[in-house]
Amino acid sequence: MNADKTRAVAVLGTGIMGAGMARSLLRAGIEVRAWNRTAARAEPLAASGARVEADAADAVRGADVVLTMLSDGRAVAAAMQAATPGLSEGQIWLQTSTVGLEPLPGLAEFAARHGLLLVDAPVSGTRQPAENGQLMVLAAGPQQVREPLAPVLDAIGAKTLWLGEDAASGTATRLKLVVNSWVLATTTAAAEAVALSEALGIDPMLFPRTIAGAVTDSPFLQMKVKAIAERNFEPNFSAEMAAKDARLITLAGEDAGVPLPMAAAIAERLARAVADGHGDKDMAATYLAGRPSDAA
Ligand SMILES: NC(=O)c1ccc[n+]([C@@H]2O[C@H](COP(=O)([O-])OP(=O)(O)OC[C@H]3O[C@@H](n4cnc5c(N)ncnc54)[C@H](OP(=O)(O)O)[C@@H]3O)[C@@H](O)[C@H]2O)c1
Repeated sequence: MNADKTRAVAVLGTGIMGAGMARSLLRAGIEVRAWNRTAARAEPLAASGARVEADAADAVRGADVVLTMLSDGRAVAAAMQAATPGLSEGQIWLQTSTVGLEPLPGLAEFAARHGLLLVDAPVSGTRQPAENGQLMVLAAGPQQVREPLAPVLDAIGAKTLWLGEDAASGTATRLKLVVNSWVLATTTAAAEAVALSEALGIDPMLFPRTIAGAVTDSPFLQMKVKAIAERNFEPNFSAEMAAKDARLITLAGEDAGVPLPMAAAIAERLARAVADGHGDKDMAATYLAGRPSDAA
């Protein structure tokens, strides 16, 4: 397949990230066939020029690239199973969901069985970078896909970091787990800094103002402290997805034999926030875990 032959991308999963990535592809002039389990969530993409399909198999039929952006490994396997009648040998499978290490061998085996060229390609960045085509793509997959994938990666990302040729090795997913361990730790730190400020009778915004511009500062921390102080939990990355990633991180640590007590505490706190009914809110709602409902 040549670069100029990448005309059509099937996007399976049009949640927060998948919808933004589909719009970025369309802006770049790439044909998008969109499918989502809950069809109503894919339908708005038709107004941006996507062909919305009710059947995953119809979405992938004839597409050069199948892009999956679903919640977890189970969802990816279910969607690809549903898409099977439309798959064809030689298609590139750009698997961008964060699935962790455990499902990778099964996904690689599925790809091999159907002659798909699998790229393990988790992304860093959230709703706005997905909408703006500014994601950081962490990719591992065969050399031969790099050229045909270039227009797709350019459309969805600001940068692609190629980390090897074997998707099943999990190198890209390993790095994604490391990146998210920092993201979740910073969000939790922001939640606790706000909680401590409020408990000590300090305006919570004094903390980010105090460290602004210092080596301890970070734009992400500034953003999360502000959101929590203002009780703005509009989801960029939902607490439910963050709880899933926290579990994947603790599992990876356990499997590798490294104790990660902070990751375990973060996972427990996010699980509590989800159990308290905050799963659809932004992960910053970890602040609300175990708090009375008037805290929201
Ligand atoms: N949001 C972020 O900031 C961010 C950043 C980087 C990576 N990610 C990762 O990207 C993936 C998607 O995240 P998101 O924020 O876009 O989540 P989201 O808005 O919750 O979307 C999840 C998607 O998965 C689908 N899904 C869930 N279970 C399914 C199943 N059993 N079968 C078929 N489809 C299923 C949902 O379909 P329905 O609409 O039918 O429920 C929806 O399309 C996750 O792996 C997440 O960890 C997210």
